[in-house]
Amino acid sequence: MNESPKKEFPIFWGCALAVLVVYLVFKFAAPVISMWIVGRTRPLPLPRTLMFIYTALALLGVGLFVTTSERKMDAFMAPVITFIGGGQGGIIAIIRMAVLVAFPLLIGWVTFSKAAPAVQYLTSIRVQHPTLPGKFEKLENPFRNPDDARLKKFAEEKGLGNMELAKVKEVFAEQVLAEGRGLFQINCRPCHGSRANSNGPMAWGFRLRPADFTDPGTIPTVVEPYVFWRINEGAFGLPAESTPWDSAMPSWRGEIPEENMWKIILADYDIAGVTPRMPEKHHE
Ligand code: HEC
Repeated sequence: MNESPKKEFPIFWGCALAVLVVYLVFKFAAPVISMWIVGRTRPLPLPRTLMFIYTALALLGVGLFVTTSERKMDAFMAPVITFIGGGQGGIIAIIRMAVLVAFPLLIGWVTFSKAAPAVQYLTSIRVQHPTLPGKFEKLENPFRNPDDARLKKFAEEKGLGNMELAKVKEVFAEQVLAEGRGLFQINCRPCHGSRANSNGPMAWGFRLRPADFTDPGTIPTVVEPYVFWRINEGAFGLPAESTPWDSAMPSWRGEIPEENMWKIILADYDIAGVTPRMPEKHHE
């Protein structure tokens, strides 16, 4: 068969583009698509470990594709060899020098940071999310779906007697969230940060960083009563398999009234821009 003389898209850049597209799809498209599929109101980002696995699989796929024939392999390597082999002057020569200097430095830095003695964390034996104790399981956030009685009482107190109940519900939700946000900034911000991303001014002082609520591995994976339990009992109430050898999370029982804890819970999901996991047996 004659090789056709038409110009092919360079295989090296094709492969780079394929990996980039896979990365972008999982990074930006997948969270939005999953949001539509499960009917949530916010995108559901993939955890970092999954992103790593998918990108690694894409690289592996590209590797398999390139090594299926000599011709592909040669075409793939051609630009690399031209780049390293030299010959071209000007800007390419400068970029080549930069890459040739940066590469060994990068390897040196990675090796150094792996080998240098560092503080050891016991991450592998710690269970981050132990089972929720039974007595908390059945609880519900009274402010997320307030019943009519609560709304009527609220309307009375605020002198909104002749307002439609649906409208009262909106005013109620707004007010509760505002109170929750205030309480969060007063009590939780020092550690969890004003944007709930564990960047509070005190956070740097703890070896176990306060939970970053914007990370899909923290409060988005648990139901609301779980968060209520953590706020009530803090680090002290954790079972042995999760014993935080030096977690600074305080126990707020007796410090913050339960009603206010539920308001704070609404606020911390809202500030972090995430939603709680739905309880298994209770679908809307
Ligand atoms: C003194 C610092 C500090 C303060 C103040 C603090 N926390 Fe924490 N919090 C932590 C630390 C540290 C962790 C991580 C501990 C762990 O994973 O066991 C944590 C973990 C949590 C968790 C568990 C998250 C998970 O995924 O398991 C919740 C929920 C939480 N905090 C809520 C709050 C709320 C709400 C407030 C305010 C009322 C608050 N925290 C105030 C330090 C703090």
